[in-house]
Amino acid sequence: MLICPVIVPRCLLFFLALLVTCLLPAREAAAYTILTPPGTDIIIQARRPVATMVIRATGAEVERLQVTMTTGGKGGGERILPAGRWQRQGGMIFHYRLPLRPGDNTFVVEPGSRRLAIRYRPVRTLGSVDFEDPAAYVFHRLSVVPSACAGCHTGKGSVSTGADRERFAADPAYAPLCFSCHRRLSTREKWLHGPSANVLCLGCHRIGTRGTRVTIPSARVNELCFGCHVNKKKLLQKKYVHGPYAIGDCTVCHDPHGDAYKYQLWADGRAGLCVGCHSDKKRSLRKSLGFFSHGIIEGSGCIACHDPHASDNRFQLYRPINQLCVSCHVGLQGISKGHPVGNHPLQGVPDPRRRGRTFACSSCHNPHGSRYRYLLIGDVLGGHVCSKCHH
Ligand code: HEC
Ligand code: HEC
Ligand code: HEC
Ligand code: HEC
Ligand code: HEC
Ligand code: HEC
Ligand code: HEC
Ligand code: HEC
Ligand code: HEC
Ligand code: HEC
Repeated sequence: MLICPVIVPRCLLFFLALLVTCLLPAREAAAYTILTPPGTDIIIQARRPVATMVIRATGAEVERLQVTMTTGGKGGGERILPAGRWQRQGGMIFHYRLPLRPGDNTFVVEPGSRRLAIRYRPVRTLGSVDFEDPAAYVFHRLSVVPSACAGCHTGKGSVSTGADRERFAADPAYAPLCFSCHRRLSTREKWLHGPSANVLCLGCHRIGTRGTRVTIPSARVNELCFGCHVNKKKLLQKKYVHGPYAIGDCTVCHDPHGDAYKYQLWADGRAGLCVGCHSDKKRSLRKSLGFFSHGIIEGSGCIACHDPHASDNRFQLYRPINQLCVSCHVGLQGISKGHPVGNHPLQGVPDPRRRGRTFACSSCHNPHGSRYRYLLIGDVLGGHVCSKCHH
């Protein structure tokens, strides 16, 4: 009988593997170990839609190892290539970056068809995450650097090179260890926050208040920010403080490390950011068929009139409404009567249309946009504006 000498060991290996798979639980069968994440069903609550998977493989598994994303695919799946692989202690360490979609994500590791289910809940701020919840995936829960990683990502407080030691002596917040894993956080974005870009991670993060876990500043993040941005604390004393600013979590808008837009914001701070939450104002961003937007918004945005943090005027406006309007519409400056007709008052009387409000430019004009010309609250033709108040 003539059997290829290559096939025999392969067949044997296959049957052996099958036998082993049947006898032992799947974990033991394959000669590779998933070092992180732990467990097969985890919940990730993070800003960024990506998780790190680290696998140690030995022998034949080094070449056979394959990770596939099977979420939402129409049959089959999308193969995920390792972000890096390094030889260590007779094995190979693979790093994968798993892309996440909101909701359920499943990944399969071959050989052995090991399933990893990750439920991803995107959050705009970690302030809303309960890290004490046992169901929350917290990488640093047990230690900052698990022993499986410590060989390469050297231990706590590591300042290995001479240059590093010098920097550490100058500023103990300097943390190249954190940087070795979280490099992307403080390099990838277009607008970086100084302290993070300078790897001063421990200026804000703490190690070891609970076990050895790394903590993010809990309770009120703003206290952390005020520590350096001292002038921002006074804003809390203003009469009108913007909702998210008052809550005390600056990171709802600013990423403390870096983000895609100026001032480390997740969207353009002039307008895109605002309509990200105030979605009813989206239409006002630009003129469209049958809709007049306030010309200033397309250029200068919402912050032409509103302070994103706080001010002494209602709606966080820079000035009281009429003063604000005439600062640009100078033709009406100094006038308290006489627009649009005769002696018509512009201020100082109650607004008949809006209980409890005094009369202002916004009694007749919508400062954001309108279906009617001149941003009016009704059509001038046929006197429809006038009849909103005069019967
Ligand atoms: C064989 C050595 C080795 C081991 C063990 C190791 N890593 Fe790494 N890791 C590296 C190297 C090398 C880099 C790349 C550093 C660079 O490019 O500057 C890296 C980068 C990373 C990154 C950043 C990846 C990216 O895309 O920017 C993360 C996260 C990471 N490692 C996590 C871990 C974790 C968690 C463990 C333990 C479970 C671990 N590593 C174990 C060598 C290792
Ligand atoms: C060995 C690699 C590694 C090192 C070193 C490391 N981290 Fe992490 N860290 C991770 C991984 C992996 C996650 C989970 C998120 C992910 O999958 O990318 C994480 C998550 C976090 C989180 C989110 C909360 C949590 O626990 O999940 C914070 C905050 C954090 N790291 C801060 C730090 C700081 C500060 C340092 C330095 C003291 C540090 N990390 C060092 C790998 C590392
Ligand atoms: C200015 C203060 C500050 C500095 C400096 C800083 N962080 Fe953070 N970090 C925070 C805050 C605040 C959060 C919680 C963010 C949030 O609510 O989204 C956080 C969150 C994180 C997270 C979790 C991010 C996520 O999207 O889930 C990681 C990882 C992290 N920091 C690592 C680092 C590393 C590494 C450095 C140094 C290169 C660093 N940080 C420097 C304040 C800081
Ligand atoms: C350790 C001190 C420190 C802490 C803590 C800190 N910052 Fe900063 N921040 C800086 C420095 C330094 C700059 C750079 C200033 C510059 O380049 O003009 C900066 C710049 C900024 C900028 C951009 C300002 C500009 O004019 O370009 C924003 C926005 C910002 N920080 C927000 C925050 C927020 C939000 C927090 C809290 C999560 C925070 N910072 C915590 C030191 C700090
Ligand atoms: C609702 C979103 C939002 C929140 C919450 C917020 N900011 Fe801002 N922040 C902005 C926007 C938008 C700008 C840009 C304003 C501009 O372009 O003039 C800005 C600008 C800044 C700047 C740079 C310009 C300046 O005014 O000095 C700093 C520093 C800053 N913010 C700090 C903070 C701090 C500290 C907190 C928390 C106490 C915070 N921000 C909370 C939206 C926000
Ligand atoms: C993270 C979500 C978020 C972002 C981003 C945001 N806001 Fe707000 N805004 C709120 C919340 C929450 C309130 C409080 C609502 C309330 O009290 O009814 C609020 C209130 C306001 C108010 C007062 C409304 C009232 O009826 O008194 C104005 C004006 C405003 N925001 C303008 C802006 C502008 C301009 C921007 C962009 C610079 C912006 N917001 C960005 C969430 C946001
Ligand atoms: C030309 C100045 C101006 C610009 C630009 C502007 N606003 Fe306003 N905004 C006002 C005035 C004035 C009021 C108060 C209106 C009133 O009297 O009821 C107001 C009220 C608001 C309110 C509370 C009342 C309401 O209508 O919901 C929110 C929220 C708001 N603005 C968000 C925004 C957003 C988001 C943008 C950008 C898309 C923006 N504003 C652009 C002047 C402006
Ligand atoms: C920061 C400057 C600025 C402020 C503040 C401002 N506007 Fe305007 N406004 C403009 C610009 C720019 C245009 C577009 C001019 C054009 O298209 O010719 C405009 C257009 C208008 C128009 C339409 C004019 C036309 O001929 O169609 C009206 C009405 C108007 N604004 C009323 C107001 C009112 C009411 C306020 C106060 C709530 C206000 N504006 C605040 C800059 C401003
Ligand atoms: C009683 C309602 C009413 C009030 C209050 C009012 N307007 Fe008007 N406004 C109108 C009407 C109606 C028109 C259209 C006039 C026309 O057809 O000639 C107009 C037109 C305008 C125009 C565009 C035409 C032009 O004259 O350039 C601007 C700009 C304007 N108003 C700004 C303001 C400002 C600023 C205030 C507050 C100081 C204000 N309006 C208060 C009703 C009002
Ligand atoms: C948002 C409500 C409102 C709208 C819209 C409005 N008005 Fe008025 N109007 C008033 C108020 C309030 C007064 C003052 C009444 C008082 O003093 O008793 C007034 C007064 C007047 C007066 C008397 C002025 C004087 O000499 O004392 C005239 C005329 C007038 N309106 C015409 C108009 C015309 C024309 C329009 C449409 C272009 C119009 N109004 C739109 C609220 C409005």
